Amino acid sequence: MEGGKAVKTFFGRLADGAEVSSWSLENGGTRLKVLDYGGIVQSLEIPDRHGRYANVSLGFGSVEDYVAGSPYFGALIGRFGNRIAEGRFTLDDESHQLPRNDGAHSLHGGDEGFDRRIWRIEPFTEGPDVGLLLRLTSPDGDMGYPGTLQAQVTYTLTDGGDWRIDYQATTDRATVVNLTSHVYWNLAGEGSGSVHDHELEIAASRYLPVDAGLIPTGGPADVAGTPFDFRTAKPVGRDLRVAHEQSLHSKGVDHNYVLDKGLTARPEPAAVLRDPASGRTLTIATTEPGLQFYSGNFLDGSLVGPGGRTYRQGDALCLETQHYPDSPNRPEFPSTVLRPGEVYRTTTVHSFGV
Ligand code: BGC
Repeated sequence: MEGGKAVKTFFGRLADGAEVSSWSLENGGTRLKVLDYGGIVQSLEIPDRHGRYANVSLGFGSVEDYVAGSPYFGALIGRFGNRIAEGRFTLDDESHQLPRNDGAHSLHGGDEGFDRRIWRIEPFTEGPDVGLLLRLTSPDGDMGYPGTLQAQVTYTLTDGGDWRIDYQATTDRATVVNLTSHVYWNLAGEGSGSVHDHELEIAASRYLPVDAGLIPTGGPADVAGTPFDFRTAKPVGRDLRVAHEQSLHSKGVDHNYVLDKGLTARPEPAAVLRDPASGRTLTIATTEPGLQFYSGNFLDGSLVGPGGRTYRQGDALCLETQHYPDSPNRPEFPSTVLRPGEVYRTTTVHSFGV
């Protein structure tokens, strides 16, 4: 299947009978399985230094498990990745109320976000690359957001084995958008245990401190001298137990990093993750100004992956490229407003190696 077009198979059914399909594609040594439900990356396999493949993303083996209670495993997140305080924002003097699905706040687009929709998928090949084009129409007022949003996400596997995501959206009324991907990475393989020995580097000198509801308290603070400093690669677990007022609410790291490169026209390096045991590496480059690093703190052993193993705290981590949390209420943050006639475009590239 190397470099070939994606293959579609039956994956399951939703409660209303709707069919969920799985699309398999492979290129440059990377194998991807994507569901039309949520645009979910159900499996992402890459080789280790001996050429042995493992699925390095957490997920489930059935639709029922995804529907019953997935903490966004592998999913596309929209319309708005991360939190909006009190689920409320004002745009052009009109105030909008979103579902409060995370305590008092709105998280990841509300309780029926893009991670729970069936996306229309079309496979494509373009030169040496193979990919999937995912499309979703979100009607005006969907989850409280104004404007009909036409969202289009392209998953490309390049001949070099990179997984590239291009996000695009347009609207017919002013709205806010912040799309991201919520893969839970474990480069040793899903279900293999903790990622605390993985080494992580994040190209950010500042992060956003948060309150008990994980809403930014103000502007960026320096990571220097805190457990949140990943400017030089270090084991993920090294400072996770260092007592710091900012680790208490998040039970580890669950913070937006303000990338030093800022918002860029082309994807630029944001983070590098490396598993010393398998040799597998992941490099993330993005056009986005922020990166939510979530250290898998809320995994509690109650979910079982496709390999039959439970997922416990720290068994994976997320590196979500995005704009900053609560941007619609923070005029000082890079804007997440999209107006008619404009095209929202962001790109994130995941490169794998050993
Ligand atoms: C958030 C976490 C949340 C997780 C799963 C992450 O993007 O930052 O706070 O627990 O998603 O819901």
